Amino acid sequence: MDDIKYTPHTPHVNQYDSSKDYGTPKKSSQKLVKLNIDGVEITVPEGTSIMHAAQLTGVTVPKLCATDSLEAFGSCRLCLVEIEGRRGYPASCTTPVAEGIQVRTQTSKLADVRRGVMELYISDHPLDCLTCSANGDCELQDMAGAVGLREVRYGYDGENHLKSAKDESNPYFTFDPSKCIVCSRCVRACEETQGTFALTIKGRGFGSVVSAGNKNFLESECVSCGACVSACPTATLMEKTVIEAGTPEHKVTTTCAYCGVGCSFDAEMKGEEVVRMTPNKEGGANHGHSCVKGRFAWGYATHQDRITTPMIRKSIHDEWQVVSWDEAINYAASEIKRIEAKYGKEAMGGITSSRCTNEEVYVTQKLVRAVFGTNNVDTCARVCHSPTGYGLKQTLGESAGTQTFDSVMESDVIMVIGANPTDGHPVFASLMKRRLREGAKLIIADPRAIDLVENSPHIRADYHLNLRPGTNVALISALAHVVVTEGLVKEDFVRERCEWDSFVIWRDFVAKPENSPEALEETLGVKAELVRQAARLFATGGNGAIYYGLGVTEHSQGSTMVMGIANLAMATGNVGREGVGVNPLRGQNNVQGSCDMGSMPHEYPGYRHVSDEATRALFESAWGRPLSNDPGLRIPNMLDLAGEGKFKALYCVGEDIAQSDPNTQHVTHALESMECVIVQDLFLNETAMYAHVFFPGASFLEKSGTFTNAERRISPVRRVMAPKNGHGERGLEDWEITAKLSKALGYEMNYNHASEIMDEIAALTPTFKGVSFKKLDELGSIQWPCDDANPTGTPTMHIDEFVRGKGKFFITQYVPTTEKVNAKYPLILTTGRILSQYNVGAQTRRTKNNAWHAEDIVEIHPHDAEDRGIKEGDWVGIASRAGETVLRATLTERVQPGVIYTTFHHPESGANVITTDNSDWATNCPEFKVTAVQVNRVHQLSDWQKDYQSFSEAQIAFTGKKSSKVIKQPA
Ligand code: SF4
Ligand code: SF4
Ligand code: SF4
Ligand code: FES
Repeated sequence: MDDIKYTPHTPHVNQYDSSKDYGTPKKSSQKLVKLNIDGVEITVPEGTSIMHAAQLTGVTVPKLCATDSLEAFGSCRLCLVEIEGRRGYPASCTTPVAEGIQVRTQTSKLADVRRGVMELYISDHPLDCLTCSANGDCELQDMAGAVGLREVRYGYDGENHLKSAKDESNPYFTFDPSKCIVCSRCVRACEETQGTFALTIKGRGFGSVVSAGNKNFLESECVSCGACVSACPTATLMEKTVIEAGTPEHKVTTTCAYCGVGCSFDAEMKGEEVVRMTPNKEGGANHGHSCVKGRFAWGYATHQDRITTPMIRKSIHDEWQVVSWDEAINYAASEIKRIEAKYGKEAMGGITSSRCTNEEVYVTQKLVRAVFGTNNVDTCARVCHSPTGYGLKQTLGESAGTQTFDSVMESDVIMVIGANPTDGHPVFASLMKRRLREGAKLIIADPRAIDLVENSPHIRADYHLNLRPGTNVALISALAHVVVTEGLVKEDFVRERCEWDSFVIWRDFVAKPENSPEALEETLGVKAELVRQAARLFATGGNGAIYYGLGVTEHSQGSTMVMGIANLAMATGNVGREGVGVNPLRGQNNVQGSCDMGSMPHEYPGYRHVSDEATRALFESAWGRPLSNDPGLRIPNMLDLAGEGKFKALYCVGEDIAQSDPNTQHVTHALESMECVIVQDLFLNETAMYAHVFFPGASFLEKSGTFTNAERRISPVRRVMAPKNGHGERGLEDWEITAKLSKALGYEMNYNHASEIMDEIAALTPTFKGVSFKKLDELGSIQWPCDDANPTGTPTMHIDEFVRGKGKFFITQYVPTTEKVNAKYPLILTTGRILSQYNVGAQTRRTKNNAWHAEDIVEIHPHDAEDRGIKEGDWVGIASRAGETVLRATLTERVQPGVIYTTFHHPESGANVITTDNSDWATNCPEFKVTAVQVNRVHQLSDWQKDYQSFSEAQIAFTGKKSSKVIKQPA
């Protein structure tokens, strides 16, 4: 007799076949139970269902309402089994294993019962299998075959769903109730997996139907995550792309190109065409879940706006000339050489993007350092998470988050500061919401009432500290004050793990009366007692985890606040185990990676300073070129010097500084002042309108490489189709373009594949020592550090000691921003993101996601609106010390009086026309979150918007393409 032993510690990638549905979720109890299924002995963790255990033995029990991403429900009665010595036929999906039981899954009685169940289902189902879009991919069809159903005795005359109308309102999927078997998998997916609770089962018995709150899907609460579509066993909920293109034929596993969650997806293909993206169950960050962006918004890769041929021009006022790769590369190289000869190498530099792969970032910084001969290389993390890198390195010793996302399931108190996970990091938000529904407490520090405050079903923040924008540091000191003065410090942890002297200095500082919640009440605009209660909860409520975002970093004291967060985590003993930690939620997919890869002007890959002799010698020897020991220019320095005529050439890969950086007029003036701007991108983005050379980049579907998410998880990006090309030449992956440019400049980069770039990174970067594409294929993903001591990576950091040895406390003196409100600019503008759009919107604006957010809107409190005679939907001018723009207004109490809020996904909104040059004292991260403004009703676009409109139309015309932009404006 066979005996299969399955232990909870066996690596899941070897244990589980991701293409198989085990019917119910995997359980991880330490207690093992032995049973016998159809003559096969198996040992599984306690709590496992009989159905799941049967699947592990290779026995498939018929099922319809069960799927392994959802808890069992037990409604379809198809999975019945017999258990020796027990009466009746229990459902194997809802019956847990028990020691010593003998289970039979295939008997003639069971076969009869299952056939009867299937007959009932089929009698209420259209018999159009051969023409159905799910033909061959339908569990109902499979089960009819599995139970041997040949005929249906009941006829089709009674009450049924066959004439129900199809709902096609959602841009990406249809809902065809005539095919619904009311298994409720969609309802449960929306509740358990996504946490949106948009669906219910309405009616009873044969009259039961799935309802999106009596609305169509588009108008309902649905956020289009696709969990219900994935869970549906029939063609009821179906991707429109599958309906149009047919069932996929093969798949390639890759990683989402959007946010820092880093979800793993299967690109399901027909030939070279993507038919759908389905979230991968084995994805370490997403476990089979997704959001609307990764799941559906990939159509931009084939959008007509893609520029697929290299282009050059002498002046930004000239038409673009389409040229061959060789001509474009040689022209760019000759311009770089000319500028170097005329102005010197310090007049040149490069900017990478967090949308690039690690390998692309690595070769770009290598090009700038080894070939341009300068350290003038920076990345867009400058404008988002550079304070995280600085602050965490100082305090904990490593510029990265401390946990896995899964760690939140062990948290008892979750503090979210300056982040909006349901919009910015939706898949992680779903996991967090699951933990909150289980009873974890929630503290939110945010000037605005984000959805988690009270707008998510079954979630309500225990404390919403709705502080005034710009007062984070005062808040963290006030929280620390309570912890220190009320004796809530975990002194054992601090004595053992931290530098005691630094703790004492910090303790004495935060204990000062001026740091008390009472003293800071007016500054913060938050009742002192609320701050006290929140601090007590965090310090005493069990495992406390802090998650933060750009609402922390994008301030003049961003780095101070990051250090303040680390101080609080250390003082309360909340670092170094599951359920706790300091967790920066990274905005873009590869923010962590672009920093890891040395795309900062002062650091080589692995955060080693350019002035460090040993590191420099290592890279000089590997690259065979002398390297500079002077830190290079940051993006704002490059732009300042360009405006002064001292910085002349820029190689900009995948980044759109003209839209994403503050003070747009300053940025565009700098770009106009340069002699050679080389942009490598998918589209003629805002920066490319000021470029002289355009290299067509490859989308994430067209190249190989890796992204590193917010948990330090390195995940593979796999090429599923060839890079686009417009005139018969082979399209190039982005690293190939950089390597060709390097060769034209006289320095050969001898890589044949992105994997060889990773091999070089691993050879030169201790934290990546054990990383290779081969290992990524084996493990799925790897969380760095990955080295001899941690050959499969490091999920949780700082377990026994901090990376820097002892944790170090830093004083966090609150210094108010110089950006002050006054009579002329009495309101504060703060900015953020929305679920359906992504960052500068270059990708999502070219998808059907515009159905949810076709323009940026400014939120204003009803009191402030009334003072100004502003009504819902009015066009309003927003003027700051830097500039003015015009948007439509919506009135909401989500923002507090005195504060307005908008998103920045559409370039014509000009959100950064208003933001100022203020920046973080340590890293120059812009103070996007605090701009003093005035708002008034207006009837026309701002001057900047009018100029932008005509300039961008002319620039698009220079490419020979038609503008696909529709700029909304006042009537
Ligand atoms: S829509 Fe699909 S998942 Fe939902 S109840 Fe109907 S068949 Fe089941
Ligand atoms: S797409 Fe997501 S949010 Fe919408 S109904 Fe389905 S599960 Fe719920
Ligand atoms: S955008 Fe983020 S949360 Fe959404 S699918 Fe992509 S990685 Fe996942
Ligand atoms: S699969 Fe078990 S009752 Fe439906």
